Amino acid sequence: MYRSHTCGELRLSDANKQVTLAGWVQTVRKFGAITFVDLRDRYGITQLLFGEELNTALESQPLGREFVLQATGLVTERTSKNANLPTGDIELTVQSFQILNRSVLPPFTIQDDTDGGDDLRMKYRFLDLRRNAVKKNLELRYAVNRAARNYLHENNFMDIETPFLIKSTPEGARDFVVPSRMNPGQFYALPQSPQTFKQLLMVSGYDRYYQIVKCFRDEDLRADRQPEFTQIDCEMAFVEQEDILNMFEGLVKRIFKDVRNIDYTEKVARMSWEEAMWTFGNDKPDIRFGMQLANLKFPAHSFASRAAQLKETAIGAGETGFAVFDNAETVLAIAVPGCSEYTRKQTDELTEWVKRPQIGMQGLVYIKCNADGTYKSSVDKFFNEEKLKQIADKTGAKPGDLVLILAGKEERTRKATSELRLEMGKRLGLRREDEFKLLWVLDFPLFEYAEEDNRWVARHHPFTSPKPDQIDVMIGNNPEIGNADKYLEHPYSNIKANAYDMVLNGNEIGGGSIRIYQRELQEKMFAALGMTPEEALHKFGFLLGAFEYGAPPHGGIAFGFDRLCAILGGSESIRDFIAFPKNNSGRDMMLDAPSTIDDKQFDELQIRLNLK
Ligand code: AMO
Repeated sequence: MYRSHTCGELRLSDANKQVTLAGWVQTVRKFGAITFVDLRDRYGITQLLFGEELNTALESQPLGREFVLQATGLVTERTSKNANLPTGDIELTVQSFQILNRSVLPPFTIQDDTDGGDDLRMKYRFLDLRRNAVKKNLELRYAVNRAARNYLHENNFMDIETPFLIKSTPEGARDFVVPSRMNPGQFYALPQSPQTFKQLLMVSGYDRYYQIVKCFRDEDLRADRQPEFTQIDCEMAFVEQEDILNMFEGLVKRIFKDVRNIDYTEKVARMSWEEAMWTFGNDKPDIRFGMQLANLKFPAHSFASRAAQLKETAIGAGETGFAVFDNAETVLAIAVPGCSEYTRKQTDELTEWVKRPQIGMQGLVYIKCNADGTYKSSVDKFFNEEKLKQIADKTGAKPGDLVLILAGKEERTRKATSELRLEMGKRLGLRREDEFKLLWVLDFPLFEYAEEDNRWVARHHPFTSPKPDQIDVMIGNNPEIGNADKYLEHPYSNIKANAYDMVLNGNEIGGGSIRIYQRELQEKMFAALGMTPEEALHKFGFLLGAFEYGAPPHGGIAFGFDRLCAILGGSESIRDFIAFPKNNSGRDMMLDAPSTIDDKQFDELQIRLNLK
């Protein structure tokens, strides 16, 4: 028997018991004739006391950090207790010990506040994983996994595995490909998601499917993206959008409850995509705080002009005499609460912030709404107080607020204002980590216009159905765009999808749709995306064929499991929640992968490199 208890287990009630512990040496502290050792395992830390009689033994076999040690002794009440440690009331008075294995000096300290940099920790990830902070993240991940499985199981979902060596599935990213030795010159693709398989399972009658599954996408990486990541992937038959929204709000609420003991009793907020773009400037708004965008001016041909039919704007398309506004496609503003007393230095710093290449604006206009009801702005030359008040009023600014205004090309300006809003929200402490706000974003456009190819692409994926009342618009119209500048006038640009995203604190944590299940409509969709009938058959013949054998109406969703864990754990980076993640260049620093392969392997695959 290596151990009778774990290092996190013993309490004062165990005093005088003889026990055996095994674990890793965290610290060794020698005080004259006695030595204290902190012994660590997955469950905690227990202090060991080596008395005088064992010290000679310790001298002949000195302990070092991360040695694997087994110690038997008596549980004893401590004279100086450590209230920060669950085992802090006791220590183990060692009677005998054995070094089970030695360790070379670790490259960084295995503590919460380690001295190891990111690269070093990734290279020695097996040591990093010993740190409590990382362990806590993996425990949280496992708790999310259990909560999801329990909920889905209770609701009749069945976990069915789907293959990893497949033909490419289009989710918008590049595929990772795997050469086939047995089929020279042919390649598998790793799935970007199990999308078509889960739809086929619906055709097969498994009406509630789920899988916590790896997905592979060769895309540019960011803090919330990994080349291989995990989805909680789900699909249901005989459902409408409302059924899906209810079922999966339930899932997320259950995860909140089981993992963080949060009772999310309120109804999950809902917002159309247009509303989200109009009021927050992006399709995954953080609704923990307001500071909504005021649309002061927008181009005639934009989603905004459609949304604007419901709203009023401030300066409209009219001339103001201020060239920056008059020449801009869009003018957008936010009212930052309580910041009217910003100094020149602070407004200059904000101006520099919006000019950074990531934001890409030319400048920033501000209006200070002073507490005494007066207005002061960076454009006093062009606008009198009355006009300044009029603009400020459109943002909902109150006395004491600072109105920030950006002007320029529509898309960039909207994105920049949205980023500025998030930044100001962060600076003012309005994006609290311990507050969780869920939101469904609904009614996405079915198509997006891809300028570089002058064609339509699926906003979500090609299996997403249009809203039922817009099926005729899709069937009845030719996808040809003609004049690229006027794509917004094409009926396709107005078609809304039966698609939904779940957003948590400004992050897209899940997305899905009600699917197309009729062959004719699916063929029309492929054609709309520029595929010839032959191409469609070559790529998706299996699905089109399956739709002819009694495909039920169905729909589903997939959650980004890593993202959900990161947000619940209060982190921006999903890497912290993955046992063996890749770095931002897609490398596994520990394995040193990707790497070259042997000539023999190339020969077997009949592949020759042609590096450029
Ligand atoms: P989608 O592509 O929206 O949908 O993906 C679903 C969710 O997966 C997460 N996600 C990622 N997480 C980490 N790294 C990545 N590279 C990454 N890419 C996506 C996001 C996202 O919301 N088959 C459809 C789902 C469906 O229609 O049912 C799909 O994969 O949180």
